[in-house]
Amino acid sequence: MKKLLIVYYSWLNENTEKIAKKLQKATGADIAKIETVKPYEGSYQNVVDQGKHEVDSGFHPEIKSLPYSVANYDVIAIGTPAWWYTMVPAVLTYMIGVTI
Ligand SMILES: Cc1cc2nc3c(=O)[nH]c(=O)nc-3n(C[C@H](O)[C@H](O)[C@H](O)COP(=O)(O)O)c2cc1C
Repeated sequence: MKKLLIVYYSWLNENTEKIAKKLQKATGADIAKIETVKPYEGSYQNVVDQGKHEVDSGFHPEIKSLPYSVANYDVIAIGTPAWWYTMVPAVLTYMIGVTI
């Protein structure tokens, strides 16, 4: 059987987290949450505005290291909310930083 790793980011209502955990339960896969070193703070509107700035400028926030290496897996499932029509900047940080 192929070895699956689930990596996800979730901030607002933990919607992505709920789905990632359902997938984990159904598959028994390893699972890890992407977290920024500097947490997003302030009102929803503040974060929406900050997110727009980050997406528009191509900013990749620093993230905490994850306990799993993709080299040990066959399939990586990545979960991200939509932020300004695309993936969350922290997820991009993860994908850019991944080395096999
Ligand atoms: C900064 C920011 C930008 C967002 N941009 C979009 C968007 O472009 N399209 C959309 O459908 N939802 C957008 N949303 C809403 C989230 O994608 C949605 O609430 C999602 O379910 C949140 O997932 P989470 O609870 O796992 O964080 C945005 C939310 C935030 C905070």
